Amino acid sequence: MAFEASYRDYVAELGDEERYPFPMDFDHRDFPAMLARINDFATGKNLPAGYVPSTTYWLVQGNSLLGVSNLRHYLNDRIRHMGGHIGLGIRPGYRGRGLGSVLLRLTIAQARARGLEEIHVHCEQANRASARMIVANGGVLDSEVAGSGGYGVVQRYLVTAP
Ligand SMILES: CC(C)(COP(=O)(O)OP(=O)(O)OC[C@H]1O[C@@H](n2cnc3c(N)ncnc32)[C@H](O)[C@@H]1OP(=O)(O)O)[C@@H](O)C(=O)NCCC(=O)NCCS
Repeated sequence: MAFEASYRDYVAELGDEERYPFPMDFDHRDFPAMLARINDFATGKNLPAGYVPSTTYWLVQGNSLLGVSNLRHYLNDRIRHMGGHIGLGIRPGYRGRGLGSVLLRLTIAQARARGLEEIHVHCEQANRASARMIVANGGVLDSEVAGSGGYGVVQRYLVTAP
């Protein structure tokens, strides 16, 4: 709750930009209800069809929210194909300072703590910042697939080394 004001500023800063990870699309007008929804996803309650349980992490400094990641606890066929284990985004004004790489590293550590040994991280081929961030965290390009629903070619990376 302490980050409500910063969260609202963050979303305003995103404007019309596509939101990553997907919980950034949740209606946040009722902030406690949004937090409850995020918590439900983490515990696997009231999941929409096709979704697996996922935990959302906030990267914060002081009272400011700087980035958000989402760790899927396991894959299903849909996100094994496209989506992977981890989605993340950094607040626009804080990009290009290494925070994306830090947040991915911390989220990979959470994945390992859950016992995941092969972590799938996907990004659009055109999203070079994302691809470099994944490679900087040990991601090895596994395959590329044609995007659907408005997405360009999607690169699928695997992070296996500890
Ligand atoms: C992708 C994103 C999370 C990267 O976060 P970031 O904090 O800007 O990234 P970092 O500063 O940690 O940089 C990561 C790498 O990308 C490179 N990079 C940063 N901005 C870049 C840009 N605009 N174009 C190309 N490369 C860029 C950095 O040099 C670094 O590479 P290096 O380690 O080889 O030097 C961030 O740009 C973002 O939130 N984008 C919108 C949401 C999104 O695309 N999420 C990913 C969905 S798959």
